Amino acid sequence: CGIVAYVGHREAYPVIIKGLKRLEYRGYDSAGIAVLNSDGLSVYKKKGKVADLEEHVIGRNISSHIGIGHTRWATHGEPNDQNAHPHYSASEDLAIIHNGIIENYSSIKKDLQNKGHVFKSDTDSEVFIHFIEEIKKSNNCSLEEAVRLALNKVVGAYAIVIMSRTEPNLLIAARKGSPLVVGLGKDEFFLASDATPIIEYTNEVVYLNDYEIAIIRDNSFVIKNIQDVKMTPYIQKLEMELEAIEKGGYPHFMLKEIYEQPKSISDCFRGRLNASTGHLLLGGLREYANKMVNADRIVIIACGTSWHAGLVAEYIFEEFCRIPVEVEYASEFRYRNPVIKEGDVVIAISQSGETADTLAAIELAKSKGAVIFGVCNVVGSSIARATHEGAYTHAGPEIGVASTKAFTAQITVLSMMALMIAQRRGTISERRYHEMLVELETIPAKVEKALALNAQIEQISEIFKDATNFLYLGRGYNFPVALEGALKLKEISYIHAEGYPAAEMKHGPIALIDENMPVVFIATKDSSYEKVVSNIQEVRARKGRVIAIVTEGDTLIPSMAEFTIEVPATDEALMPLVSVVPLQLLSYHIAVMRGCNVDQPRNLAKSVTVE
Ligand code: G6P
Repeated sequence: CGIVAYVGHREAYPVIIKGLKRLEYRGYDSAGIAVLNSDGLSVYKKKGKVADLEEHVIGRNISSHIGIGHTRWATHGEPNDQNAHPHYSASEDLAIIHNGIIENYSSIKKDLQNKGHVFKSDTDSEVFIHFIEEIKKSNNCSLEEAVRLALNKVVGAYAIVIMSRTEPNLLIAARKGSPLVVGLGKDEFFLASDATPIIEYTNEVVYLNDYEIAIIRDNSFVIKNIQDVKMTPYIQKLEMELEAIEKGGYPHFMLKEIYEQPKSISDCFRGRLNASTGHLLLGGLREYANKMVNADRIVIIACGTSWHAGLVAEYIFEEFCRIPVEVEYASEFRYRNPVIKEGDVVIAISQSGETADTLAAIELAKSKGAVIFGVCNVVGSSIARATHEGAYTHAGPEIGVASTKAFTAQITVLSMMALMIAQRRGTISERRYHEMLVELETIPAKVEKALALNAQIEQISEIFKDATNFLYLGRGYNFPVALEGALKLKEISYIHAEGYPAAEMKHGPIALIDENMPVVFIATKDSSYEKVVSNIQEVRARKGRVIAIVTEGDTLIPSMAEFTIEVPATDEALMPLVSVVPLQLLSYHIAVMRGCNVDQPRNLAKSVTVE
């Protein structure tokens, strides 16, 4: 979900609405705002997009110099007007916006109901604000004190902002496990769940830490921890440019981000890789790097697209470093009493750096003595901070919900990491090492060539846009690409798609193949090429419709497939960086043609901060 709040000399409403639109990618099933003026403390909220909220407030008195706003991705309770945030306390004197989950909310709710509290929504967040109010009343204390006492009692994750009718110049914010950034202006302050709504006003920010409470007035800003000890805020200067979070002429963020990949991959190399001098260094791998060099095994934990990048990394690490690698869904890992011993090496991959399951898996592995490396895109994110060391992907803000440039940046970083470790372990020859560095540097240009296939892919999309199923098949390094291609299509076009290792097709999916089944083969020239050719024949024999991603100059597969898309050749270990690009474009065009909301697909959220 997305949080925005403002206190200061400007009109709060336009600042908050604009901020909510910037954050809409985080959740968008309902939106709401609270403002304070001569009409008192008013909450307006609406199921649907931020635009629906704007329509809803037309004609209302929304003039205010303080306000809180929220865009929601439902967890407790269905998306409807009542469950949208902000939520009121019983007296309607306090309003809250909340991200995260209060795990012990049902027992608190019961207690409050016994005391006469009546709830209008099914959310834990409404319970939270009633709880704060109850504490304030029974202790006869300040709002700040009541928030502090409440936070000491709730279990779970939260980023909250509270405003009060009786204190028209006060915002109280707190975080645990869910991000919150404060933007510092001159006699004004901004709060948001990430920096994107803030950067057009100020580049000075403070990221709240877990268990910190911020007490914000238009001319003062104090941070305390939940033991009531004053903390010194660490002020950071943001380097993000406004262009990075705008569409810049593209119809969708997703398309912009697909096209940014040559640049985002180069950005990932910057200062780290120089093939001509043989330089390869990830500055974030320092004193713990030796742990990875000497590791007996590596466990990779991630979710979604990041998990697919982890699978590619498994192949790369095993090939070059000869270290056994396991790739785990963070959500499975954390709940199955995994075998982790002191000194084990864990790599956590996360674009947002906020995924709740990944974060919890890290904490678990840490508690068992593992050394954790992070591969995150969002600088200063919770996962980046929870890990011992790591390397940022530097892909720039990714706003489209379906991950594209973050995926290729993750693979780029993980490839560099593997090569660096392999060289130190002596498991890669100098020649091969050097070849790989040279090859890595050619990737942005090759991705550029793959992007030039856009028009052809658009035509293919037109032909298959009404399909109800898709199969994606690949082997070796292209197997995770098949998974990722299928995921992209599912996520944004709502077509059922499955990714499979091409050889496994025989053990099930082959039963689905008939003249209506499009089968996308990622069949570039590599060590399993001949085997994939046989798999293509198996599909053809059952009249499946083959779309093949092949290496430029291939003549064999084009003679068998109905459609071929030619990408430039590269080392097979780096091919996913190139072969995934046509699949991103295919899913994009099909989704657009089907009239789907590409940047904000139904039911999904960009960063899943609940388990
Ligand atoms: C959500 C997003 C995906 C993403 C996954 C993991 O499901 O919609 O695009 O791959 O979370 O997110 P992370 O930020 O940890 O990479």
